[in-house]
Amino acid sequence: MVRLLAIGAGLLFTFVVMISFVADAYNAATTEAEESPEYAFHLEARAPEGGWSFTGPIGTWDIGQLQRGYKVYKEVCSACHGLKYVAFRNLADLGYTENQVRAEAATWQVPGIDPATGEAVMRAAEPTDYFPSPYPNDVAAAAANNNAIPPDLSLITKARHHGTDYVYSLLAGYQPIPAELTEEFPDFRTPEGLYFNPYFAYLNIAMAPPLTSTGQVTFDDGTEATIPQMSEDVTAFLTWAAEPTLVKRKQTGWPVLIFLVFATVLAWMAKRQIWSAVKPAKRKD
Ligand code: HEC
Repeated sequence: MVRLLAIGAGLLFTFVVMISFVADAYNAATTEAEESPEYAFHLEARAPEGGWSFTGPIGTWDIGQLQRGYKVYKEVCSACHGLKYVAFRNLADLGYTENQVRAEAATWQVPGIDPATGEAVMRAAEPTDYFPSPYPNDVAAAAANNNAIPPDLSLITKARHHGTDYVYSLLAGYQPIPAELTEEFPDFRTPEGLYFNPYFAYLNIAMAPPLTSTGQVTFDDGTEATIPQMSEDVTAFLTWAAEPTLVKRKQTGWPVLIFLVFATVLAWMAKRQIWSAVKPAKRKD
């Protein structure tokens, strides 16, 4: 009797699960996706032509690119965005010597304390300091940016879906509202103080296009500073900022894998050697 009940309960449970599964599948297959400008005109992030030097199993940083990207960050983005998890000493990764890092740090101002009076002052940064935030607090940041707070960029390529491709696409992707969009959604507006960008999920972003003209930054290595080039370089720099050990991780990974394969073969040979003298026991039946 108990067994019958158990079977009954099991069957009932299976039946309910089946029904809900089929109903969901039916719904998913037949419901039209909601038609909205955000759905129809949002573009997927893409990598620049030629891809990134640091993706793939044997990718490496392009040091020249990181240096150019740092320059774009310093001269353009740092007006609004901080980089609070990166210290000036980390710039040594970009191929700068200790003296160059010290000199570079000194070109930045960070909050400090006057040793004589104890008053809050700004002082030149040292290699051990972290990149300063451009605003003293979020209220000031929002007030200066039409009520939107520019996020800290230290981890931005980790904090967004397809982060590296996304940041690149966002920077290089400002464009006029496509005619098809206004045709299909006559009510669509880009409010005052916002800017149309199809890579931003809401299509209207509170950041004015930061990179607007060729030559906005002068690269020391003579690379032409086009908008896509500056976007690509600063994105590579931000990817490094978010994961400075990305390349090292891959470079350590390969020897570790090779060692593990080698160790497995050794272990297998050792096992055969140790057990070679032992005959399999006869079965007693
Ligand atoms: C004039 C100030 C200003 C400058 C300069 C600026 N930004 Fe922004 N940025 C903003 C504001 C404001 C937001 C918030 C936008 C929003 O939430 O709508 C933002 C948001 C972002 C975001 C996040 C978008 C998201 O998905 O939430 C990224 C990435 C970004 N900026 C990168 C950059 C880079 C890289 C530069 C330099 C090339 C730069 N910004 C220069 C003001 C600025």
